[in-house]
Amino acid sequence: MKIKVGGVSLYYEVHGQGDPILFIHGFPLSGRMWSPLVEPLRSSWRLIIPDLRGHGQSEATPESSMAQYADDLVAVLDAAAPNKPAVIVGLSMGGYIAFEFYRRHRARIRALILADTRAGADTPEGVRGRLQTAEQVMKDGSRVIADAMIGKLFAPTVAPAIRDQWREIMSNTSPVGVAAALHAIAARPDSTPTLAAISVPTLIVVGDHDVITPPVEAEKLHAGIAGSRLEIIAGAGHVPPVETPDGFARCVQTFLRSLKST
Ligand code: MLT
Repeated sequence: MKIKVGGVSLYYEVHGQGDPILFIHGFPLSGRMWSPLVEPLRSSWRLIIPDLRGHGQSEATPESSMAQYADDLVAVLDAAAPNKPAVIVGLSMGGYIAFEFYRRHRARIRALILADTRAGADTPEGVRGRLQTAEQVMKDGSRVIADAMIGKLFAPTVAPAIRDQWREIMSNTSPVGVAAALHAIAARPDSTPTLAAISVPTLIVVGDHDVITPPVEAEKLHAGIAGSRLEIIAGAGHVPPVETPDGFARCVQTFLRSLKST
């Protein structure tokens, strides 16, 4: 499905019946990373799976921000699940967006699942690196970011076919969308002060081989969010829904069942 937000065309999929769950993918990936969760969850949940602006099949704009992504997602929820607060699932950059979503649209959130993400902002050196990469991507294309990330995204044991598939998806992401996201990530605020304000049920998940947002970051989230649960997934890197879909789905289902019983 497609909607226009401020004239920009955004793509999203809806699967299944039940209470809404919104899935926010990481950078520079797409909603396809959540495909393995559709079958396990569709009988009891309505899965809403957008491509963020500038990713997948959504249109790119030369500028974006965590606030813009969050507001885009509210427009998607308005279209796909207008009357009920949703469970919000964010992986990595999806988690950065989930924090902003929480600050801006708290009433729309029933619960949070934060996967392979961190609360802190970039260091000044990290910001410089992102901006340089954005320039290179605009000059040489998205293969630059695919080459930079492919070695870090997955645990070493991942199937070569998965690695190849995601290298291709990253390479095919719009350079304008990638550069805008790099600027948006570099400019994101420190979400550490938000953690103490989170009062919805929260599950934190991380792959034990994640080298981009390692388990120590998940432990900080767990310590900062009162009553949160932490699950460490064996054998996964930065993208457990793709690498270890059964283990990831099991953690998510256990958490979702606990929501239904409250
Ligand atoms: C992501 O997976 O969304 C990115 O690796 C996040 C980041 O680079 O900080």
